[in-house]
Amino acid sequence: LRILLLNGPNLNMLGQREPHIYGAQTLDQIVSDLQQYASTLQVELSHLQSNAEHELVGAIQQSLGQQDYIIINPGAFTHTSVAIRDALLAVAIPFIEVHLSNVHAREAFRRHSYLSDIAKGVICGLGANGYRYALDSAVATLTSTPRNP
Ligand code: DQA
Repeated sequence: LRILLLNGPNLNMLGQREPHIYGAQTLDQIVSDLQQYASTLQVELSHLQSNAEHELVGAIQQSLGQQDYIIINPGAFTHTSVAIRDALLAVAIPFIEVHLSNVHAREAFRRHSYLSDIAKGVICGLGANGYRYALDSAVATLTSTPRNP
């Protein structure tokens, strides 16, 4: 199974960035824990963090035929990016949207996502564990019999 993990802008600042909201772990720690977990599930987990919308769009485009599933925390692009939405629609690879924080318990502008209605599911407010739950769900879906969602 090939799964792509994407992290958007400012997630490279995890650890220093508003730790009361986003937790104390760095992105490197989160990703290396996740890579280790993925290997126990026979998942080949690729990762890209970028602060640039075009790099995330490019990575999604290049996933066509290369990845079975995408797990994406789009950061602030969640609330702004028609381009990331269109890229995900273009490749038609199933994806889960993840947020560390509970975006519904914060500023009103964080409640709207350009991706949620086309995602398989959305996980928010559960911190870095959310990535792990997304991975579990992706693997369950990819290895399940057709009657399961
Ligand atoms: C975030 C929530 C977004 O609203 C914010 O812009 C982020 C991080 C989260 O993981 O909680 O950068 O996606």
